[in-house]
Order: sequence, then structure tokens, then C-alpha cells
Amino acid sequence: MADAVHLGSGKVRELYALDDERLLLVASDRISTFDVILPTEIPDKGRVLTGLAAFWFVRTRAITPNHLLAVRPDGRSTECRRLEMLPVECVVRGYLSGSGWKDYAKTGEVCGHRLPKGLRESDRLPDPIFTPATKAQSGHDENITGAQAAALVGAERVAEAERVSIALYRFAAAYALERGIIIADTKFEFGVDRAGRLVLGDEALTPDSSRFWPADQYAPGGPQPSYDKQYVRDYCEKIGWGKTYPGPELPPDVVAGTRRRYVEAFEQLTGLSFDAYLANPSVVLK
Ligand SMILES: Nc1ncnc2c1ncn2[C@@H]1O[C@H](COP(=O)(O)OP(=O)(O)O)[C@@H](O)[C@H]1O
Ligand SMILES: [Mg+2]
Repeated sequence: MADAVHLGSGKVRELYALDDERLLLVASDRISTFDVILPTEIPDKGRVLTGLAAFWFVRTRAITPNHLLAVRPDGRSTECRRLEMLPVECVVRGYLSGSGWKDYAKTGEVCGHRLPKGLRESDRLPDPIFTPATKAQSGHDENITGAQAAALVGAERVAEAERVSIALYRFAAAYALERGIIIADTKFEFGVDRAGRLVLGDEALTPDSSRFWPADQYAPGGPQPSYDKQYVRDYCEKIGWGKTYPGPELPPDVVAGTRRRYVEAFEQLTGLSFDAYLANPSVVLK
């Protein structure tokens, strides 16, 4: 990467500029939980995220343009179009969980959506809802209303992002359900290209940006087992860590269990073996 300029580091990705119009996003194996990056990495996690996002980018082009240009042979580096990212995270919820559940339990609403009475934690919503959030400096995202999102990026842009986000969620949720995975909720990040078009960026529909639940174990009325950080979260709870920096080292069995779940999600959704992806990442692009 001699001619790539390092632009910055996210919690998971390293960003490089390839030229004025193209970026290289390199997904590391870092894992964060409760917004804290842990000192232990999960081998191949960055490859799972990169391969799965690319898989979805190819399959959702009829719904929205996206930033993907190429996946490099290392399986963790994505060449993409450089966008002006919107300062709003576009969250879609099909089920009541996480902060959505907390807000509903308190107020009967989530981000200004009034929901039916009597819903339980993890219940399916009558229709998916768009619940935007801001990237707060603290690292914890904050839910906002549609009006607040409109104040940040403009009412028309929000309406467009909402329409596209819901369409993406509906498509992916139906696809995943046929393969035994419930996508309870997910977060999209959009940007605007030079022509002013809304373009899907970042990662999409991965276990890091979504809640994936095994459909055969779905039992609303409480939290659900998930495909991603469940092992890590359970371990952190067990050892009584205070959820602030520094995070704990993970023991080998927790690392192995977490890696297995990430790989399982990849294989179940794509119908491809992860080894085939490692041998040739372009298998997800077909
Ligand atoms: N096409 C793009 N153009 C510009 N920035 C992008 C693009 N796609 C993703 N990004 C940004 O790159 C970063 C991805 O790194 P990541 O580790 O996921 O960050 P975070 O800690 O914010 O989740 C995010 O800040 C995201 O907004
Ligand atoms: Mg991210």
C-alpha cells in the first residue's frame, strides 16, 4: 500500500485514500463490546465482515447504489468510492430489542414511532420502523426522532434514506429468514457522491452492524441468543467487568466460540464455505 494515505482508524476499520475518489477500507479483527475495543482479536472476523458486506452489496444493487468497487485478495480490504458520509446512522428495526425495547418500555414509543401496546421484548413489529441515531462523541449512539434527523441532513434526504433503508431491510430480512436467521435490526450508513446521489457505504448487514438471531431458537419475551458477540458479552458479564476501558483479555475458548459464530453466520447466509472465501474472496461477488 505504498501510495495509500492513512486517513484514520475506526473501532474496526483502517481507512486509506487510494486517490481523490477511492478509499481502501481494511477491516481488522478487533472486537468491541459495550463500545470498548478489547485487547484480544477474533481471527478472521474482519474477513467475515468484508465478505458478508460484499455479498449483500452485490445483491442489493437494484435497491440502491453502493460504494463497493472491489474486494482485494486478502479478503479484508475493500476498495470503495469515497463519499461524504451523512452524520446520521440509519437504523431499521423489525423486532423490539436493545435501545428500542428500552425506549418502548419507558414511553410506548421508539424514535417518535408510537407502537401497539403490550409488546414483549424481542417481539416482531407489525412493520419495520426507521429509527435514526447520531454518532455521539462518547461512542454510544443516541436515538433521535425523524425531525431531528431532518434538521441534521435535510428532510428530503432523510425521507430518501428512510425509504431505501426500509427496502434494504425488507429484502435482507426475508432472504435471511429463509436461511434460518432473523435480522432483528440493522444499521446502514449512507453518503453522498459527487453527483449528489445517495449511496450506501460502510459495511452492511453484518453481525457487527445488525442483530442476527437463530430463527429456530426464537422465543420472544426476553433477550435472544445472537450470532455475534454473545460469547464475549456473556464472558464479560461473568467476570464482572465494569464496561469501561481497559477491556478484559478473552480466553481461547471464548475467542474460538466467537470466531465460530461469525463464520457460521457467513456460511448460513451466503450458502458458501468460509474456506472457499479465504481461497478466493470473489466468490461472494457472483
Ligand atoms: N465510502 C465511504 N466514504 C467515506 N467514509 C466511509 C465510507 N464508508 C465508510 N466510511 C467511514 O469509515 C469508517 C469505518 O470504520 P469503522 O471502524 O467501522 O468505524 P466506527 O468506529 O465508526 O464504526 C466509518 O467512520 C464510516 O463512516
Ligand atoms: Mg463501523
